[in-house]
Amino acid sequence: CGITGYIGFRKAYPIVINGLKRLEYRGYDSSGIMMYDGKDIHLSKTKGKVSDLEKITNLENKRKQGYIGMGHTRWATHGVPNDVNSHPHFSQSENLVIVHNGIIENYDTIKKELVTRGYTFKSDTDTEVLINLIQEVKNNEGCKLGKAVQLALTNVVGAYAISVFDKTNPDEIVVARLGSPIAIGVGEDNTEFFVASDASPFVEYTKNAIYLEDEEMAIIQVGKDVEVRKINDDSIVDPIVHELQMSLEQIEKGGYEHFMLKEIHEQPKAITDTFRGRMLAEENIIKMSSIEDNLDKFLNADRVIIVACGTSWHAGLVAEYLIEDMARIPVEVEYASEFRYRNPIITEKDVVIAISQSGETADTLAAVKLAKSKGAFVYGVCNVVGSSIARETHSGAYTHAGPEIGVASTKAFTTQITVFTLLALKLGKANKSLSDVAFENYIKKMQLIPKQIEKLLEIDEHVKSIAAVYKDATNCLYLGRGFNFPVALEGALKLKEISYIHAEGYPAAEMKHGPIALIDENMPIFVIATNKGHYEKVVSNIQEIKSRAGKIIAVVTEGDIQVKEIADHVIEIPDTEEALTPLLTTIPFQLLSYHIAVLLDRNVDQPRNLAKSVTVE
Ligand code: G6P
Repeated sequence: CGITGYIGFRKAYPIVINGLKRLEYRGYDSSGIMMYDGKDIHLSKTKGKVSDLEKITNLENKRKQGYIGMGHTRWATHGVPNDVNSHPHFSQSENLVIVHNGIIENYDTIKKELVTRGYTFKSDTDTEVLINLIQEVKNNEGCKLGKAVQLALTNVVGAYAISVFDKTNPDEIVVARLGSPIAIGVGEDNTEFFVASDASPFVEYTKNAIYLEDEEMAIIQVGKDVEVRKINDDSIVDPIVHELQMSLEQIEKGGYEHFMLKEIHEQPKAITDTFRGRMLAEENIIKMSSIEDNLDKFLNADRVIIVACGTSWHAGLVAEYLIEDMARIPVEVEYASEFRYRNPIITEKDVVIAISQSGETADTLAAVKLAKSKGAFVYGVCNVVGSSIARETHSGAYTHAGPEIGVASTKAFTTQITVFTLLALKLGKANKSLSDVAFENYIKKMQLIPKQIEKLLEIDEHVKSIAAVYKDATNCLYLGRGFNFPVALEGALKLKEISYIHAEGYPAAEMKHGPIALIDENMPIFVIATNKGHYEKVVSNIQEIKSRAGKIIAVVTEGDIQVKEIADHVIEIPDTEEALTPLLTTIPFQLLSYHIAVLLDRNVDQPRNLAKSVTVE
């Protein structure tokens, strides 16, 4: 979910609504807004997108008045996405209003207690329980909102980022965080403040942001410095004001029809940005201070454990192939959600690497905390600067992909692989698993990748024509081996996510242990058959498909002859080292999913049921 808020001298409505649109990638089942006009609170909320909310608020002008507002865009956890369950939520007295991102796990117990004290509830949400708990505490203690929020939160188990407003004391907004992010934009001379799940809603108004840490709350009042406290012991925290790096252009579509297409096309630049300052090709060096400063930890590690979710997990699998091949350090790749709950063996000699685009994924963050508590050295590979995982890890490297808005991850994936290629090369060079010649050759070939992707993107029309042929398929198979096995998984995930066509990724040779039973003339099979990666073996796999009448779409290296003769369609990628091919083979699959989704009239940037940043476990 995403939350926004404003208090200051500008009309709050456009700021809050536009902020919600920027945060819609975080969830879009329903949305809502609260405006305070100086006298009354006006709530508008509805199932559906922020554009639906805009339609209903447009009808009533008075809802748009006022200099204080809060908004919410929801990814449902408790209660179906409908108007009633949408945020903001009132307390029973209708004096307090809340927007909330996260889950209150013990809401049921609290609710039962509140019911015995005469509270009734309109929605099924945990959030309405929390705001009534705050009201109950406020009534009992006779205190101001800040204190009531603080006391209430000490009774809460779960995760939250909340923003709360009290009509009886309307010159402040109170926010708090545990597990879900909150950024506070600070206007010049404290004349205005912005609240949001990330800084994108306020980037055009201020470059100064305070990020709350877990278990912190803040009281925000115009004309005063933001007052930050620890929720549990009430100690005052001196907040650090960060200077934002992102620009407005970076988060707008820039002429592309969808964010996803823009982000696919941004990959050459994103990878170049990820190289910057790290790959010094002239000198044949890779500079990564986060590795240099911790080199002994990596080189003496018994093993590297990678934890991640979704597409980032696929990048982790590529990383496993890279690190084991280039640096000969054993690697395990784990779904963060499984790892954290299966009593894993973690020792001080393990290096745990968390991969996360958003840096906020709840399970990955929890895995980081667990690994830290066991004494492991924890390294983060995140895209969002200043995100929770980036801050929680001992050290790490940013991917520098720039903001990724499309829910289907594209440039985050390829820049994650870029970071791991650099990391594996650096470690391989340091522990001499890689010869100087091999290292130099990799650097030379790596340098070519951004230009090769640029060229590869020119195949767009060709991929679109293939998309048109297979858009009505109901099942697809993606096959790859070695470095390209994870690319097959990612190809299938991309298609599922945005076209809703069922797709499975498989190691090519495993096909005969199951999926082969599904093959018939209606089944498109996407196979990665690049020239250096077990080429002959993959060709045999393709023959097996052909003899069962499956449709073959093969990703091959330029100049391929053999596969071209057998496959129904081929997509050529430029030649490179096998270990670097994932950066290229991924691109046609991204384009293919994109075009199929567009042809099927799907919502490419906001596919149903998904969210970009999953801050619930
Ligand atoms: C969600 C997104 C995926 C993403 C995954 C992990 O499921 O829809 O695109 O790969 O979360 O997110 P992270 O931000 O940790 O990389």
